[in-house]
Amino acid sequence: MCGIVGYIGKPKPIAEGLEALKRLEYRGYDSAGMAAYDPKEREVMCIKAVGKIEKLEKKLKGINIKASPFLFYTRWATHGGVTEQNCHPHSDCKGNIWVAHNGIIENYQQLKEKLVGEGHKFLSETDTEVIPHLLEHAFKGDIAKAVQKVVPLLRGAFALVIIAKQDPTRLVAVRKSAPLLVGIGKREYIAASDPSAVVGMTKEVVYLDDGEMAVMSDKGYTVQDINGNHLKKKVDFIDWNIEDAQKGGYEHFMLKEIMEQPETIADTMRGRFGKEAGTAKLGGLEVVGDRLKNIERVHILAMGTAYLAGLVGEQLISEHARIPVDTDPASEFRYRKPIIEKNTAYLFISQSGETADTLAALREVKQQGGLTLGIINVVGSSVAREVEAGLYNHVGPEIGVASTKAFTSQLALLAFLAAFFANRKEKKLPEITEGLKKIPGILARMLKDTRQIQKLAQKYAKIDNMLYIGRKYQYPIALEGALKLKEISYVHAEGFSGGELKHGPIALIDERVPTVALCLSDSVYEKMMSNIQEIKARNGPIIAVATEGDKEIAKIADDVLYIPRVPEPLAPLLSVVPLQLFAYFMALLRGYDPDKPRNLAKSVTVE
Ligand code: M6R
Repeated sequence: MCGIVGYIGKPKPIAEGLEALKRLEYRGYDSAGMAAYDPKEREVMCIKAVGKIEKLEKKLKGINIKASPFLFYTRWATHGGVTEQNCHPHSDCKGNIWVAHNGIIENYQQLKEKLVGEGHKFLSETDTEVIPHLLEHAFKGDIAKAVQKVVPLLRGAFALVIIAKQDPTRLVAVRKSAPLLVGIGKREYIAASDPSAVVGMTKEVVYLDDGEMAVMSDKGYTVQDINGNHLKKKVDFIDWNIEDAQKGGYEHFMLKEIMEQPETIADTMRGRFGKEAGTAKLGGLEVVGDRLKNIERVHILAMGTAYLAGLVGEQLISEHARIPVDTDPASEFRYRKPIIEKNTAYLFISQSGETADTLAALREVKQQGGLTLGIINVVGSSVAREVEAGLYNHVGPEIGVASTKAFTSQLALLAFLAAFFANRKEKKLPEITEGLKKIPGILARMLKDTRQIQKLAQKYAKIDNMLYIGRKYQYPIALEGALKLKEISYVHAEGFSGGELKHGPIALIDERVPTVALCLSDSVYEKMMSNIQEIKARNGPIIAVATEGDKEIAKIADDVLYIPRVPEPLAPLLSVVPLQLFAYFMALLRGYDPDKPRNLAKSVTVE
């Protein structure tokens, strides 16, 4: 929900910290701040600004100090309004200890009352500010020891990076239920919320686990548990470049990520086709191969767009591998006192691998002994580390808040999973595997010309409400189309199954409420056509997404976006793309930044 960066090493111009922070802006962008220790002056300089990171950048212009250690922070407000006072880093009463925090301290009220009673002066309304004040109490010249004393007092979720003016040769980073890693350079270290912030300096990283603390200096680093016991940690290698996390000539990350889908789907599929048509080779699941033999049910758990990918997966696996599948939002599952079954595989889908609800559901299943699998994009993320086996998307960093390339990659992996489960029953799915091979080429052709979608957005840019309908494989795509539109263009949009229309939503239809109808030439075409007729009969404008060659639809719909014909279970990989682009153009025409939608953060690491 917030982005944090901490650096220690040879003193550097603070502009370098700002560059690292910019790559975390997707995590929150209502305000930004920094605290930097200037070794010449032996002072900490703290500067904060409300608004996007450029606002902080402007304030830092002309400040030419070289600093180490330093902290940078970009905020997505949870406690207290969007003000400079509430922005991190926060300090103790003496301006000695400085803390940047991602997460929520649940017991901050009690802690704050006690600290105020003892005479501590608070400047913000945040939960975080209790931390530097607690550290002030515990500090006896060694910031790492002080952190060890304070962490057990904190309830909630936190990734913290901490510096102290009176112990300026160390940077401390500590994690509990919020992402944090350490980038390892040559006698310089950078602690950050995700790898995109460190990749400009180093590709070697250590991912911290819950309850672990990294203590860094310009001489080296150690990872310790909270009692100070040293731990041996694996050093991972980031296998993508800084350019992958940049816009590559596009105006927005979202557009770049939509446009790169032909390549990202190809990357997802690489090495996953079996020798024979209709078979899948999923090396990531081999470690649980024996347990998977007895699987009688799959339960998919995820949030947002990843959940909607799960709904497509449910159709795919149950229809083609003939295994019953349930799909639930992880947030609801976890509070249901779920019954965990021995012969069920629990599949967690998450782009970031850090979504709090998905992670909590995963832990619940694990605790009860269920078999956990994952589809995750961010390598080394919490979900990736905690599932027993899983598949990486390999689509590179997804920066735009609206998930696009991760979604199509999730769909591709779910199609592989359907083949994988079918193969266990001696069944092959050649239509699916051979169809998948053609998807990147087809998508590349579809993405060559986006002008029709742009024009459509011009036609509807001023509407207030929009409905999306689809059936079977296209029902989750209707939900995803509506989610994309509402989250970045702020048009009120709802998705329904075509069958639900007459049970309530049809009351909304009139000439001011357009409906996007996903009406492909598939097994539910006739049914969708009836739904479209029902809408037209009530003067509702129709934008149809249809299969190339369907002339009938053009007679009824006001606008038609054609997509090439592919096997029905794979059509979601194509039909979602015009809806992603439509939402993107709508956001631009309505004057909004699609990469940074209001009130949203890329990775929802709190409940
Ligand atoms: O990182 P995750 O895939 O777990 O994220 C889940 C949702 O928060 C995410 O898909 C969200 O719905 C997107 N903003 C949708 O575009």
